[in-house]
Amino acid sequence: MSFDPNEHQQVNPPTRLLMGPGPINADPRVTRAMSAALVGQYDPWMTDLMNQTMELYRQVFVTENWATMLVDGTSRSAIEAAIVSLVEPGEKVLVPVMGRFGLLLQEIAERVGAEVVTIERDWGTVFTDEEIEAAIVEHRPKLLATVQGDTSTTMNQPLAGIGAICRRHGVLSYVDATASLGGNTFRMDEWQIDVATAGLQKCLAGPSGSAPISISERAAEVIRGRRHVEAGIADGSQGQGVRIASNYFDLGMVMDYWGPQRLNHHTEATSMLYAARECARLLAAEGMDAAVARHQLHGGAMAAGLSGLGLELFGDQANRMNNVIGVKIPEGVAGDELRASLLANYGIEIGTSFGPLAGVIWRVGVMGYNTRRDAVLTTLVALEAELRRFGFTTTPNAGVDAALAHYEENK
Ligand SMILES: Cc1ncc(COP(=O)(O)O)c(C=O)c1O
Repeated sequence: MSFDPNEHQQVNPPTRLLMGPGPINADPRVTRAMSAALVGQYDPWMTDLMNQTMELYRQVFVTENWATMLVDGTSRSAIEAAIVSLVEPGEKVLVPVMGRFGLLLQEIAERVGAEVVTIERDWGTVFTDEEIEAAIVEHRPKLLATVQGDTSTTMNQPLAGIGAICRRHGVLSYVDATASLGGNTFRMDEWQIDVATAGLQKCLAGPSGSAPISISERAAEVIRGRRHVEAGIADGSQGQGVRIASNYFDLGMVMDYWGPQRLNHHTEATSMLYAARECARLLAAEGMDAAVARHQLHGGAMAAGLSGLGLELFGDQANRMNNVIGVKIPEGVAGDELRASLLANYGIEIGTSFGPLAGVIWRVGVMGYNTRRDAVLTTLVALEAELRRFGFTTTPNAGVDAALAHYEENK
């Protein structure tokens, strides 16, 4: 197909309400921040802005970790950076797998050349501390790599005891908090987590493309033990340890870049930095506990509304993420066709599913900028209408009424 730029207009997306598992609609304050003017990356204004961003993300991760910064890329860029920087080929990594994103950690660790052992649970359930500790004792890994909110199953793995277990056994802990941070309690220091990573496109209310990361001093020491400065900017220091097998994701170099040395690494993704800073500023201004409560309120209203429609919620509801709800596709309803119709008729997107849950559940997200009563109720009204068109009988208004009752009870 030939593309004549004179015949095509500027990108002009349709209006959508994104109520899937992410991305969601970005907060307009974040997209406005992204359109601010570019400034050179070593301009003192810019380095000050980077320091502010580090401080804001310390508040978001609830940590004192100095090494709290951004990896430029989508959420999985920070996951890769964490694993390639912490783990040397042949070292052992333990991954509890309860959904797609545990499998992603497994795959990334395998690609890094780690010896990976997994423990597995049915999708829709979470691990107990005892199960994880028993596997640590049995396998003696260097790193435990876990997912907090596994978006594929909507489960939120309890983590409060995991860091202490790891410390007791001399194991490093890594947490993928991409989909949970900001909407579910996460306390990096109190829980003694060594490395955690996130993304902007879920509860942080931004677009994807920047991945916040926080690294404990203990983990930073491990990474510094593999410090090799890039040849073109060599400072005469001797390289140490096994060189990290990625230049872009070498967290030693990324720390040297964000740190007082300001050693040149990548060219700053300035517009994404502005976005990430604004996402964290909004959360920090609100307070992390208040942000979690907001997700709990609106996610709870959506769950009540979906049940009110006569749909069955999926998975262990006691350990569900506040911000993503899995709901079984009713017998006889064509799940993908209904989703397409919801999009075409109402401009509302809800999520499909992967692996064993493909065709079994829809995933409805209520997070970031979309944690609003109007977004929840509009979705329920439209879903009810589509369900009826697809032959599923519900009591009129039962979904909206149940959601409104939830708001009333949780005032
Ligand atoms: C829990 C979790 N981890 C990792 C990812 C991968 O993130 P990205 O697509 O931003 O690279 C996602 C994306 O949905 C996710 O939900």
